[in-house]
This record gives sequence, C-alpha cells and structure tokens, in this order.
Amino acid sequence: MRNKMIVPFGTISIPEHSKKLIWEILESTRISSGKYVRRFEEKFAELIGVKEAVAVSSGTDAGILALAVLHEYGAKQGDEVIVPALSFVATGNAVVHAGFRPVFVDIERDTLNIDVSKIEAAITERTRAIMPVHLMGKPADMDGINVIARQYGLYVVEDAAEAHGALYKGKPAGSLADLGAFSLYLAHIITTGEGGIITTDSEEHAEILRSLRSHGRACKCKECTLNTASKYCPKRFQGDNGEDIRFVFERIGYSSKMNELEAAIGLGNIEHYKDILTKRRQNLLYVLKRFDRFSPYLTTIKEELNEQIGPHAIPIIVQDGASFTRAELTNYLEKKGIETRTLFASMPTQCPGFAYLGYKEGQFPNAEYIGKRGIHIGVHQDLGLEEMDYVLETLFEFLEIYQK
Ligand SMILES: Cc1ncc(COP(=O)(O)O)c(C=O)c1O
Repeated sequence: MRNKMIVPFGTISIPEHSKKLIWEILESTRISSGKYVRRFEEKFAELIGVKEAVAVSSGTDAGILALAVLHEYGAKQGDEVIVPALSFVATGNAVVHAGFRPVFVDIERDTLNIDVSKIEAAITERTRAIMPVHLMGKPADMDGINVIARQYGLYVVEDAAEAHGALYKGKPAGSLADLGAFSLYLAHIITTGEGGIITTDSEEHAEILRSLRSHGRACKCKECTLNTASKYCPKRFQGDNGEDIRFVFERIGYSSKMNELEAAIGLGNIEHYKDILTKRRQNLLYVLKRFDRFSPYLTTIKEELNEQIGPHAIPIIVQDGASFTRAELTNYLEKKGIETRTLFASMPTQCPGFAYLGYKEGQFPNAEYIGKRGIHIGVHQDLGLEEMDYVLETLFEFLEIYQK
C-alpha cells in the first residue's frame, strides 16, 4: 500500500484570467451585477446550447426562481411540484420557497434518479411541474419525464446543479426541459465560488427571471448598460410620466443577483472548462470501470450508451449483505485522507424539515436505503489517476479488513 494521500472532496480553479479581471473590476469599483455577469451568462448559454442563461446567487436560488416563473402562467401558492425523494435538500427547499408543495416520488437504486414509472400516481389536479434531478451528474430519464409532462400539461424544470457536462442522448443537461437550474458552488464543475444559473430557450422566461432576481423590477433588459461607463440608460425613464422603470415592481421578486467578482471566476472556469471536464471524466471513468471488484458489498453508478455522466463525484453505496456499516467505511476513508460526503437523504422521511408534509418512514424505500447507505467522494481536476488508484486500493484494503 502506498503512503497516505490527501483526496479532498472539492476544489476551486481561479485561473490567471479571473484574477486579472477581479483586479480590474475592483479598480473600477463597479462590482455589482454588470457586464461580466452578462458575458458569463452568454458563455454559459452557449455551452449548454440554449438561448438564455440568467445568473443568480446560488443553485438553490436558481431552483426557486425557475419554479417561481410558473406563477406567471397560472400556478398558485400551494400547487404541487413532483421531485425525487432523494436529493440534496436544496431541491425540496427550492420548491417550498417558490411557494409550492413538494410531492415526493421514490428513486431507482441503480441510477439514483426519480423512478419515472411512479410519477403518474403522484399527479393530482394541483400538479404544475416535475423537477427531476440529475443526481451525481447522471441524467434522469428525460424522455420518459417529458412524455408524462406533455400528457398532463406540466412544466419540467431540471435540477442540473450537479450535471455540468452531462449529456442525455447527445444533448446537454439544462437543455432538456423548460428550464434548467445549475449550482455554481465551489465543488461544482464550473464555479463562481457561490452562485447559480438558470438556462432556458424561452426569452419570455428569461425576462421574467431577470425581473425576479432583482426584486421584481420592470427593468429587466438582457443587455443592461447600467454598469457601463456612462451609467445612463435611456430605456429606464419610459414609465408613465417618464418614471424610472427600475423602481416599478411588476411582481413579487427576490434579491439574488450574481456580482461581477463571482462572474470573473466563472469566466475563467469556462475558459478552462474543456480541460476541467476531461480531467474529471478521466478520473470518474477510471474508478467506475474498476468498481465491479467491490461488488456485491459496494456499488456505484454505471454510464449507459445513451448518456455521458457529468463528472461531479463518485457515489458509493454500502449494499445489503456487507458486514460493515457506512460509518465504518467513512471513518476508514477519512482516516486515510479521503474526504467523504453522505449521498444525501430521503427528503420527506429523513429530513425533519419536511415532516410537516406527513410522510412516513417506509414510503420511499429506495431513497431511504441510499440515505442510510450512500456516500460520495471527489473526482475534481486537482486529482489524478494516482489519487484514483489510492482510492481503489483503500477501498480494497477496507474490504479485506471489514468484510467477513
Ligand atoms: C442537487 C442539488 N440541487 C441544488 C443544489 C443547491 O445549490 P447551492 O448549494 O449552490 O445553493 C445543490 C448543491 O450542491 C445540489 O446538489
């Protein structure tokens, strides 16, 4: 066994280009949302192959605002949004903060994603949307979901927080539904430190989103010039009697803009995106291809022919029949320098915040199974095959000691 290595869960790349931009932005003193946020949005939209991208202050806000758009199309407070039971808690929180009731559907153990065969049974008169999650960058079954959505007249909002670089039948996550919500938190593939971004092909949705992120203002142009040298925008004073439309509020909004410094980090990340993605994919696939050796006690996800997994992290599930616990595994890995995160929880039955909805333990057996037995570890760009070998060897060593 080689010497102890450190395998952190996440990293952040701040390329020279970003540092230069940050300095320039600081010197200019124009740090609130402006031309660099616009530029980041354009580049991100291009990457995902959609017409519009709207940057916000977190992935959670991206989910909230994407769902809040539905209020413009007749959705009412307390209407329902279908989400998978297993996800990072932000998925469920976003539904609640957008004014809806989350209706949870169990997941499949092998894909970790919503079980499409169970969605129809969860649809009621009040259902307005389905929000699938591409957990661990593995695309949800979007064809199945979109067919049901069309049949029942529902919107589909992808929670693509972990799915940068994921492809489903050749198309990027975030371009597969009405709207896509990405996190740009630092463990994610493109990061702004903290941040989020919503993708859509609808110019109308994008305009609503630009208003929602800034208090519901009527001032919501795609090409905002306020942050440029002149600071003067002739479009502003077009309200009745020449009022400033920046102070006309069309809807109940949020305060969740991205700032220029964050956008500068994002722009640098986009410049290096191909390299980051290649490195992460190489790490992930290296481990996935060698994971069968730990079966049946430890398993992970598989990449199918019709998809490319966005290399967010490596999920690991302690299966029935193992003679060790998840706690023993995480303690062993952590002591060996390999950082771990749990593979989230069944939101309705394992997260007390959702107890008010009245679900009972046992209703989401697969989500609960993963919630008790899953972890995930890093594959980021500052790691290489040496670290991946170390992870594999450490898992092997663990099984030799703990599996009776
Ligand atoms: C599936 C999922 N949805 C939403 C979010 C929320 O993103 P943020 O932490 O940027 O608010 C995350 C965060 O990692 C996530 O993993």
